[in-house]
Amino acid sequence: MKRSGYCGQIREDSIGKELTVFGWVHSRRDHGGVIFIDLRDREGILQVVFQPENKEIFAVAEHIRSEYVLSVKGLLRQRPQGTINPNMPTGKVELVVNELEVLNQAPGLPFEISDYVETSEELRLKYRYLDLRRPSFQKNFITRHKILQEVRSFLNNEGFLEIETPFLTKSTPEGARDFLVPARLHHGAFYALPQSPQIFKQILMVAGFDKYYQIARCFRDEDLRADRQLEFTQVDLEMSFVEENDVTDVIERMLARVFKETLNIEILTPFEKMTYGEAMLKYGSDKPDTRFEMFIQDFSSELKNCGFSVFSNVIAKGGIVRGLCIPKGASFSRSEIDALTKFVGEYGAKGLAWMKITAGGAESNIVKYFKDDEIKIIISKLSAKDGDLVVFLADEEKIVAQGLGALRLKTGRELGLIDKNKFNFLWVVDFPMFEWDKEEHRWQALHHPFTSPKDGSLLNAENASSIKAKAYDVVLNGVELGGGSIRIHKSDAQKQVFDLLNITQESAKEKFGFLLDALSYGAPPHGGVALGFDRLCALLMGEESIREVIAFPKTQKASDPMSNAPSQVSEKQLKELGVRIVIKQANK
Ligand code: AMO
Ligand code: AMP
Repeated sequence: MKRSGYCGQIREDSIGKELTVFGWVHSRRDHGGVIFIDLRDREGILQVVFQPENKEIFAVAEHIRSEYVLSVKGLLRQRPQGTINPNMPTGKVELVVNELEVLNQAPGLPFEISDYVETSEELRLKYRYLDLRRPSFQKNFITRHKILQEVRSFLNNEGFLEIETPFLTKSTPEGARDFLVPARLHHGAFYALPQSPQIFKQILMVAGFDKYYQIARCFRDEDLRADRQLEFTQVDLEMSFVEENDVTDVIERMLARVFKETLNIEILTPFEKMTYGEAMLKYGSDKPDTRFEMFIQDFSSELKNCGFSVFSNVIAKGGIVRGLCIPKGASFSRSEIDALTKFVGEYGAKGLAWMKITAGGAESNIVKYFKDDEIKIIISKLSAKDGDLVVFLADEEKIVAQGLGALRLKTGRELGLIDKNKFNFLWVVDFPMFEWDKEEHRWQALHHPFTSPKDGSLLNAENASSIKAKAYDVVLNGVELGGGSIRIHKSDAQKQVFDLLNITQESAKEKFGFLLDALSYGAPPHGGVALGFDRLCALLMGEESIREVIAFPKTQKASDPMSNAPSQVSEKQLKELGVRIVIKQANK
């Protein structure tokens, strides 16, 4: 079987030639005795024409339905005046068929294969092979392939070695739940699928490979969202003899190259660097969307003695008060403000205080508790104008930051303040090393426990909350695209961090003993980073969800309606693995 070219790539320069093309029937139209078929392949659509004079072929064409697979041969001609379609790359030509072979048939379809037809996600994933035939999908995966090749070629040129690391391994502490695989030859023991190649890439540095990369599959058993899947792909890299700037520089140049080659966009490097503290304060997020302003402001010192007891009590107990100005929000009705209150409630906020800004000052049920000076400070710090709405949260820092951060994003989006054509990159730096886990009453590593503290940090529990890490996250338009750190390369320093995290010697030995051993045999200073490749692709293609750039993703409920995974397995398999299923009875 030999074709002259892809349907979508046939152009005027082939007019007058005999061509053979293969493809799927995208649509069929009968026009007064002439049949037109839009024949589709991965590159696009070509119009093919069946004329009644060619009786035998015409009779076959009359019975062709959507998604039949055809091989057609014919003469390419210019479309007659008035039938040119300027919206199609092949819109000036058509193929007049003189040989037709139906290579395969298809029954009626569960949904129309078109970019313009809304279909439920469940159905789309059940018939993913049909869904993926849609032209926009074909384009996405061609683009994903190109991005991947750019990344590879860039890293190869920089001297990185592509090295694979195992899937059947031990748990890696990236903070999510592990997927476990029972070991047939070791009943009662389990392999863990890697949440990332973290430990192995560090060991590759100890082994002397100096610069490693991998397009790595990672597995995390977490709740799914638009930008999260159970298995996803990282552009993972690690380098020896580096400091923070060496790693961030490689990523900036790699992203600049990818954006230039795929979107022909020049992105400015070096990227802005923002401390974690500033990001949490001004944007209420460690992945700030800097495409619009609407900065959050802190009022904890100015309002600590104010007459509104909700605020002064919270501040007296060590909490904080912060505010946000919603432009033109003074027109919101009570029920609209109630809806905002409910929205921040999802982040744990106990209420939402508000004031409508007027020409003379402010109006609301709580304005009476504030002195004129305090109102003036509020208006001036938030640059609030007549007709705006200012809102406040008083609570512990995390709740206030998250609640106002989410409200900022929601209102920014709704007010159309976000320029969709902007690509705002930044590095968030100076992360805290540790965060307090209220439920477990212990310190947790904010990044992972192999991250190095800033030089000169004294590692003890008393100052744990103020120790900063040599960690960096790259953020694009409010999405955490990647993260990494300079690692601890000495086993005694690593032990100190484990101590602070309350990971006992035995437990450290059991979990990461092999890493500690490796670090003791002359580990070089090293550091690295991993980019979420699915997120990068989705952002480059303007897709809201990474499911649009993953061929076979899972549903929100973590299942695959096409293969029916996860599914039950036979008694025999379970027995071989030494696994017994215990079914929990309700109410027992
Ligand atoms: P981290 O856990 O921050 O770092 O992951 C790096 C990047 O991977 C992407 N990502 C995901 N993408 C889709 N679905 C998920 N469930 C998911 N989880 C994470 C994000 C994230 O920024 N080993 C470290 C890196 C290092 O220190 O070098 C790591 O995995 O874009
Ligand atoms: P109340 O004193 O309960 O009538 O509340 C007065 C206003 O303060 C209402 O608009 C509440 O939503 C708001 N409010 C209550 N608790 C908080 C809080 N922790 N932070 C911000 N506003 C609050």
